[in-house]
Amino acid sequence: MGIVYNEKTGQFHLFNAYVSYIITVLKNGQLGQLYYGKRIHERESYGHLLELLPRAMTPYVYDGEREFALEYIKQEYPAYGAGDMHYPAYEVKQENGSRITELFYQSHEIYNGKKKLQGLPATYGGEDEVQSLDIRLTDPVIGLEVVLTYSIYKNLPVITRSVYFQNQGKEELFLERAMSMNMDLPDMDFEMLELTGAWARERYVKIRKVEHGIQGIYSMKGCSSNSFNPFIALKRPETTEKSGEVYGFTLVYSGSFLAQVEADTFDVVRVTMGIHPDCFSWPLAQGDAFQTPEAVLVYSDQGLNGMSGAFHELFRTRLARGMWRDEPRPILINNWEATYFDFDEAKILKIAETAKELGIELFVLDDGWFGKRDDDTTSLGDWYPDKKKLPGGIAALSEKIEALGMKFGLWFEPEMVNEDSDLFRNHPEYVLSVPGRRKSYGRNQYVLDFSREEVVDAIYLQMEKVLSQAKVSYVKWDMNRCMTEVYSHALPPKEQGMVMHRYILGVYSLYERLLGKFPHILFESCASGGARFDAGMLYYAPQCWTSDDTDAVERLKIQYGTSMVYPLSSIGTHVSAIPNHQNFRQTPLNTRANVAYFGTFGYELDLNKLTEEEKQTIRQQVAFMKKYRCLFQQGAFYRLASPFEGNVTAWMVVSPDKKQAVVGYYRVLRPVNSAYERIRLQGLEEGTEYEVQRIEVQETVEEVTRYGDELMYSGLLVSDSASSENCGIYNGSNGDYHSRLYVLQGKGQQ
Ligand code: DGJ
Repeated sequence: MGIVYNEKTGQFHLFNAYVSYIITVLKNGQLGQLYYGKRIHERESYGHLLELLPRAMTPYVYDGEREFALEYIKQEYPAYGAGDMHYPAYEVKQENGSRITELFYQSHEIYNGKKKLQGLPATYGGEDEVQSLDIRLTDPVIGLEVVLTYSIYKNLPVITRSVYFQNQGKEELFLERAMSMNMDLPDMDFEMLELTGAWARERYVKIRKVEHGIQGIYSMKGCSSNSFNPFIALKRPETTEKSGEVYGFTLVYSGSFLAQVEADTFDVVRVTMGIHPDCFSWPLAQGDAFQTPEAVLVYSDQGLNGMSGAFHELFRTRLARGMWRDEPRPILINNWEATYFDFDEAKILKIAETAKELGIELFVLDDGWFGKRDDDTTSLGDWYPDKKKLPGGIAALSEKIEALGMKFGLWFEPEMVNEDSDLFRNHPEYVLSVPGRRKSYGRNQYVLDFSREEVVDAIYLQMEKVLSQAKVSYVKWDMNRCMTEVYSHALPPKEQGMVMHRYILGVYSLYERLLGKFPHILFESCASGGARFDAGMLYYAPQCWTSDDTDAVERLKIQYGTSMVYPLSSIGTHVSAIPNHQNFRQTPLNTRANVAYFGTFGYELDLNKLTEEEKQTIRQQVAFMKKYRCLFQQGAFYRLASPFEGNVTAWMVVSPDKKQAVVGYYRVLRPVNSAYERIRLQGLEEGTEYEVQRIEVQETVEEVTRYGDELMYSGLLVSDSASSENCGIYNGSNGDYHSRLYVLQGKGQQ
């Protein structure tokens, strides 16, 4: 790993064993981009990579030098309007109405380790594992200073970037666009992969060819959203899960964002990513500063699995923090789909008692425990227990749960308020709303103005009281509507463009305070399922409720897509009842668990409504998960067959020492007399002999011995009676929605 600056050429080379990233100071002092991709040799100069050809109709910087045209020079952090006419990385409105700026190199600093970002989530790393570079640029006309920060990890194909603006001039400036990164790539032979969806079908994989012009994804909802996840990848058309080149870009941020790919008519591709500029205007008075969120760039020549592996490793070990980072996650039971709002202490304890008998470790009390919340029209904002449902409050209930030998967890929706609440009656000005205009409802609730410290304080004090008085080991932090009428009653007109970002900073600050006071609590973030599943959240809450859709078949797509970026240790997964509450599908209990094992794992159903046989199955599932959860949550994950492409989905996890693996195989519809089927595994050790146990409905039905190379190159034979004329006997799980696991145990190296 290294960051080298060549004084003579003015070139920076950031590299490790996997990637090279090369920046140059251009002859006019601006920064140009020379290369980003697979590691290339260190050499004296990369000047030849700077492509300068004269082109017609193009403005140029120096009289008579037609080839020095910013429109066609690949740049590091470009401005619009002084030569370059593409979408810029940043924009500053000045007192005279101009938005023209130019940033020139001043100095730089290379250092070991990585600085924290004030008030923002970010990846981290020790001095021996990451190196950083700050490049200081200025616009001398207005006295704007901009620091571009880069960090490169030693053992990962990862570069992080962020940008710091400071007004060192005399006039007030308005930052109208401040992207976290810009990347000009020299060709457009790419497909853009994005994760798109909606409530209950979050993060579906969508791939489209990059065309001339703009293609992008965004959120202007105030949260990162379930429409588009803050992530895009540019992959070569031939790149698969297993091989080929891909660039992945994501943002450590939870608010409105823009990720845009612009291909110009000379086939240069510009990728920008950051806070959505249409929801943003940040005044910078003299001395004021602004810090962008961090962008994470991954380059892989090992296919999409290679890219995902790097994101997983980074986010699991160098973004997530605290005691839960490396801990196996507790197997939980959540009462939401079991009871909805209709519960009392006796009912809760009955579920908890059965859960304990089955080996479940954590009881999570979901929505409905506070104020007088018997439905979703009331009480958000009043975080004190409903004594009608829970006579002894949360404190007594949590003690009773702990007395059973389980941990206790609690649901909050801290950012929201109902009109029918004491908080709203006392402080109607605490909600985001525009004076004189109507307020939009969303699930009967309004959004609290978290851009104001006193609002965050008010919620903190209420939460702190509940959490201090009761024995709470886990908090589910929900958020069930998007922002509208974004306006703060506490800010002057020129600061209204700050509200969306300040809101997210408020959310982060509340998390930080709660984590500071209750470091033992495991937070799980949630936003009507996965509407705020992003790297920003993972800094505070190492796991996230992935989707309200708990149907095992739907979950294949949702979890497959989510795994593009996010590690299994962050993917909240529950086994729920059938008929499924979202789509009424009836899948076998073991298929529901076989999908949910590949995540944090828990149950969300009334255990007391199950038969003894089903309870026995759950007992076995819980025991299985306890045995293998470190592997699921900390192993390397590989996608093998995509639910977006066929009837079969397959994926696997491999232990860090490659001695153990579990493969999940899922077949949505059962065919008859179908083709032979093999799944080529990944990530194993070629020379290791593995005992391969095929497990169906918690029982080992076959055991064979295979070498790693056979399993990876010839494949694991998965054909069964569905590939023949003999259809066998129906046993409740070998028809539609069939699934099975293969557990691999290495016998030793050859
Ligand atoms: C939405 C969440 O995604 C659900 O799991 C549940 O917590 C409800 N909110 C409760 O209102």
